[in-house]
Amino acid sequence: MSNYHIKHLEEYYQVYRKSVREPHNFWEEIAEEHFLWRKKWDTVLSWDFSKPEITWFEGAELNITENCLDRHLATRSDKTALLFEPNNPDEPAQHITYKQLYHQVNKMANVLKSKGVRKGDRVCVYLPMIPELAVAVLACARIGAIHSVVFAGFSSTALATRINDANCSLVITSDGAYRGAKTIDLKGIVDDALNSCPDVKTVLVVKRIHSKITMKPNRDCWLQPLLDAAPNEAKAEVMKAEDPLFILYTSGSTGKPKGMVHTTAGYMVYTAYTFKNVFQYKENDVYWCTADIGWITGHSYIIYGPLCNGATSVMFEGVPSYPDFGRFWDIIQKHKINQFYTAPTAIRALAKNGTELIDTYNLSSLKVLGSVGEPINEEAWHWYNDNVGKRKSPIIDSWWQTETGGIMISPLPYVTPTKPTYATLPFIGIQPCIMDEHGTELQNNQVEGRLCIKFPWPSMARTIWNDHKRYKDTYFSTYKNMYFTGDGALRDEVGYYRITGRVDDVIIVSGHNLGTAPIEDAINEHPAVSESAIVGFPHEIKGHALYGYVTLKEKGESRDHNNLRNEINQIITEHIGPIAKLDKIQFTPSLPKTRSGKIMRRILRKIAEKDTSNLGDISTLLNPECVQDIIKEAL
Ligand code: WT7
Repeated sequence: MSNYHIKHLEEYYQVYRKSVREPHNFWEEIAEEHFLWRKKWDTVLSWDFSKPEITWFEGAELNITENCLDRHLATRSDKTALLFEPNNPDEPAQHITYKQLYHQVNKMANVLKSKGVRKGDRVCVYLPMIPELAVAVLACARIGAIHSVVFAGFSSTALATRINDANCSLVITSDGAYRGAKTIDLKGIVDDALNSCPDVKTVLVVKRIHSKITMKPNRDCWLQPLLDAAPNEAKAEVMKAEDPLFILYTSGSTGKPKGMVHTTAGYMVYTAYTFKNVFQYKENDVYWCTADIGWITGHSYIIYGPLCNGATSVMFEGVPSYPDFGRFWDIIQKHKINQFYTAPTAIRALAKNGTELIDTYNLSSLKVLGSVGEPINEEAWHWYNDNVGKRKSPIIDSWWQTETGGIMISPLPYVTPTKPTYATLPFIGIQPCIMDEHGTELQNNQVEGRLCIKFPWPSMARTIWNDHKRYKDTYFSTYKNMYFTGDGALRDEVGYYRITGRVDDVIIVSGHNLGTAPIEDAINEHPAVSESAIVGFPHEIKGHALYGYVTLKEKGESRDHNNLRNEINQIITEHIGPIAKLDKIQFTPSLPKTRSGKIMRRILRKIAEKDTSNLGDISTLLNPECVQDIIKEAL
């Protein structure tokens, strides 16, 4: 018997050691006993981080939807697979059983096929958190199409960039989206985007908010009539282990988003195995992850991980503040949630509203509390522990990334003793290490440096869509034979890891990963702007917020600064989305630069953080005199 479900700390250490000493045997056993294969593999793992080339379960054939759906029909057909909680609490929740989901996915798969989508084609999914989103994702996987889900908060420009980068031929969207008391015109955004996407032939539209929209003849179709007419069985395409399952974009150090490519077999095995253990999921539990399926958390831990385990996974359409700040607690009480997985930014926003509201709800069903997306600060950790978990539910601070596909460092609840702000121990099979700036591994405990992973794991991204060189440069070139995460970390005296934050040009705002480059590119489009630099600064609720330093062209100098600030945020909203708006904008005559012309963000970051006591050596700057001026005018 393989160690699919780890139940105590000794077992964790024993299984961990095995997974590191004999990774091939270890993963082979997990894969063998807990999944449905059309054909087993020839080779468990082959890898070369210098190329980089990684394959898991090469030679195997499978379809991930047979693992998520078909194989549960014998024993769980009437069990709820997806529990949909609408934005409006007065609208009834929907319990979609495994059997119903199976048929819905098959119908959608048949619709996609009837529109000419074939194995390997890319389909863009731009939908709110409604059941059709999960159904669309699984329908793509059913027929071997590569899904590219774009978070429905992204703007039309950001959507168009992603559609074109992956060359999507079909888009699935809805008339609009509910978001608290507001509605969002999703179809209008898609129409705008498609003005610059010549390859999109078909748009399938879900009716959700019944708004008036325009349907372009020969391109746009309402989805429901097509689903009604489609057969409810569809053959699952036989996929190779390393066939791409999906593309998901994340930001990086240039203006272009990176289309991370995840493949089929390894991703399935790892997300399922981590889900089972990190949430200690038991057969009748109701599990809720509050993330959006537009992010990796939703892909791995709303859809694939839970469904592979036959779990009941909640999908929430709304926001934590609507109709009031008790909504999360209301949902936990109403659906008797057992595992609750959310982000520190949500916890901080809810904590700010005090405990009066939360104390009126019965949260006794909770067994596990998860946190993901950014470091959880001590105060938020304790608030979560005291008021949500009543000090009875362990907090699972889980560290991972879009690129890693699944959870990498995390306590296992009721197994690993927790420690506030620590992600604690590596998951089974994960070999993290801490490197210093010179590329030397810091072997001991009580060290701090940059977090790398030195051995492959099944769900790692295999490449960047159409840009393998960038994949190599970004993740495998900083340290030889290592995957570099972009995060800083420390390891304490017992070997627990604490993630200290990004060490590159990525800033995490409210749990959203934002590259500074795309935001700067957007700002620089403003006709009055000459140059800009974005840095992060600590923010009570968002964790970090954005601070922009902007220099103006001559013609901008006489302009009203508040108007300019609004215009700059408007441009950012158009190019990326409202999540990337700047909290502070300081206009400055010049930016500190190195002699090679590179903006010294380190100095700007310190000024934004109001920590100017130790700016380091600035004498090597091209223009050291500007630093004092910037400090004087700092916001
Ligand atoms: C970055 C990845 C993984 C799902 C959501 C984010 C930060 C993530 C933690 C954590 C400290 C964390 C890291 C990471 N991060 N989880 N538990 N503690 N930092 O995915 O958008 O790819 O962002 O989020 O900085 O590199 P993502």
